[in-house]
Amino acid sequence: MLPDFSLFPDSASTFAGPVDGLFFFILLVTFFFSVLIAILLVYFAIRYRRRSETEIPKPIISAPRMESAWLIFLFALFLGIFFWGATVYFSMARPPDDAMEVYVVGNQWMWKVQHPDGATEMDQLHIPVGQPVKLVMTSEDVIHDFYVPAFRIKQDVVPGRYSYLWFQATKPGRYRLFCAEYCGTDHSRMGGWVVAMERSDYEQWLARKANFSMAQRGRQLFLKHQCITCHSGTSQAKAPILEDLYGKKVALQGGRTVEANEDYIARSIRDPKADIVDGYRPIMPAYAPEQLDDQELQQLIAFIKALKAGETPTRNEETPAPENKDAGP
Ligand code: CUA
Repeated sequence: MLPDFSLFPDSASTFAGPVDGLFFFILLVTFFFSVLIAILLVYFAIRYRRRSETEIPKPIISAPRMESAWLIFLFALFLGIFFWGATVYFSMARPPDDAMEVYVVGNQWMWKVQHPDGATEMDQLHIPVGQPVKLVMTSEDVIHDFYVPAFRIKQDVVPGRYSYLWFQATKPGRYRLFCAEYCGTDHSRMGGWVVAMERSDYEQWLARKANFSMAQRGRQLFLKHQCITCHSGTSQAKAPILEDLYGKKVALQGGRTVEANEDYIARSIRDPKADIVDGYRPIMPAYAPEQLDDQELQQLIAFIKALKAGETPTRNEETPAPENKDAGP
């Protein structure tokens, strides 16, 4: 029934050690006290049983020393577990700056993956070992959850916003990828494999897969949808300049400011009226998924993230349209 059953999952990322350490420590503490309490329960029930019908129990004497020592011990133990857990949590919550970004879109019932240089894959994620990888994830329909037990990572993937997950694989191999949020009929079959490869193998694989980078595809979309008509990159333009935008603070009408992150850029495309940049009029049309699907949206975001000063395309630029499809195996 379970051909490759094993009690513990593979340990294939830098998180496996710390997460397992914490887990087994808590398991040990729980086991120790469960056994201790069970034994004492039986022992006291026998030791202090009622011995005759007329027996009057001795009055209970309080033992403040013993009680406060016990409370202090428990307090220290739980605080220790808290800080240990927080340390592990923070290391998992903060991706390192040099992490390689991979875009993931969940949809009923598959995982679509795009690498920064344009390679796409389905229900598979190829990554190099020894390299921090940051997943930028969203969903096209309902909530999914990206779960790789061998890496000890798990994160909800939510429609309409981006969530992040990072890891660093430590040994080459194929590891199971699951969806861990009930998402409909084929939820149990939504999954695939994470393939961790030595760097040289990964680069070979990538070279076979890639043709246009995500940012290059985003640039094509920028031209195709005539974004340059308004976002022409000059100070007289009808729409804000997008160069060097990513990560900056943007002043909005009404005195709010937002950070120009993935969520802000996505919202500005899907629902431009939500945040009007100070000094501009609300003239941008909203781009629904029918005009621009989530993968295309991510390509546009990748383009805007990479756009440096003076790099806004000009109106008459001629560029070949890349075939926006999975190129091969
Ligand atoms: Cu997607 Cu469950």
